Amino acid sequence: MLRVVVMVSGGGTNLQAILDAIDSGKITNASVEAVISNNSGAYALERARKHQIPAVCISPKSYPDRAAFHQALLETVREYRPDLIVLAGFLVTIPAEMIKEYRNRIINIHPSLIPSFCGVGYYGLKVHEAALKRGVKITGATVHYVDEGVDSGPILLQKAVEVKEGDTPEILQRRVMEEAEWQILPEAINRIANSK
Ligand code: GAR
Repeated sequence: MLRVVVMVSGGGTNLQAILDAIDSGKITNASVEAVISNNSGAYALERARKHQIPAVCISPKSYPDRAAFHQALLETVREYRPDLIVLAGFLVTIPAEMIKEYRNRIINIHPSLIPSFCGVGYYGLKVHEAALKRGVKITGATVHYVDEGVDSGPILLQKAVEVKEGDTPEILQRRVMEEAEWQILPEAINRIANSK
């Protein structure tokens, strides 16, 4: 059984897609051991609790400096002995020590076709705003392994999504989630759990 820890900052629709995929059998041989957030108000924590999954908040506000916050984050992750860490809308830079300790065992979902619209400053709605501004006709989502760079690790899965006339960043974000993110993130976890 692949022990998965999911890290989240916000609403947690990708977390929900993972939990639903486990419940429906689309993901096999994996269990979510904990959900960790930097944000106590993250609705994702509520989704975890509803599923009887430990929901832990490690807020930077509770620590004197970044190093102490990073240490607490790492110690909390270690407690759950993950085989895989999934960044599902986790909008905080991962401590270098965690990347080293869990090399090739951290994956991230990004809401564009990397290498477009990724890197420093490209997260959440900003990605879709940039895609619309550039006028691309195709966008999508990417699941990749996390290395020391920003959105720079090896790509596992990608799925393309059409940009439509009249799209707003919000409309596009929702389509990318529905048609790409909520599919490829569970699929990536299932592949890893079953060594495919
Ligand atoms: C998702 O669109 C995810 O791809 C994005 O944050 C959103 C979280 O939504 N992540 C990034 O932009 C990372 N660079 P959710 O909390 O509803 O899953």
